[in-house]
Amino acid sequence: MQDDIAEVLVSAAEIKKRVKEMGAAISRDYAGKDLLVVGILKGAIIFLADLVREITIPLQLDFMAVSSYGAGTTTSGAVRILKDLEVPVEDKHLLIVEDIVDTGLTLKYLLENLKARKPLSVRACTILDKPERRLVDVHVDYSGFSIPDYFVVGYGLDYAQKYRHLPDICVLKPEVYARQK
Ligand code: XMP
Repeated sequence: MQDDIAEVLVSAAEIKKRVKEMGAAISRDYAGKDLLVVGILKGAIIFLADLVREITIPLQLDFMAVSSYGAGTTTSGAVRILKDLEVPVEDKHLLIVEDIVDTGLTLKYLLENLKARKPLSVRACTILDKPERRLVDVHVDYSGFSIPDYFVVGYGLDYAQKYRHLPDICVLKPEVYARQK
């Protein structure tokens, strides 16, 4: 596994520090409000687990799963809900928690879809942002790290469903991708 990694882009220690700051900011901004954290499966689970433990105000947790990427590294742009929320949202402030905002297509879809359900508010939080790759204009309220246009794995992010458990955010060696083709 270690042999597959070309570079550590963001270390576990850097992530820990930043997630703590993000949790503090969210706790401040949502104090006294009914917060529903919406985790986007599967990529956001590790970030979400760390983030909610840094949030010091009451919150509820629910999940959505959407399809965007297949086993490869390119997107079709088509977004489909594979799993929807289980709790009602009308009386809640929603915070979408994503692993990465890349083209922005997934987040744009999620924001529009959730706003249409008339919650009190909807905001977005991501651990990673690749602004260079943006295809649509989408506002990210809480962003952990801006990264260059690399395909990354670890801290919840996968390549062909592997590497999600790596504690650092890493770039794989080119031959790893070549092996899958
Ligand atoms: P969009 O393009 O809709 O993409 O903003 C959002 C989803 O695409 C996946 N994605 C990645 N997954 N490494 C990954 O493992 C990456 O570098 C990467 N870039 C995009 C991810 O699932 C994200 O939620």
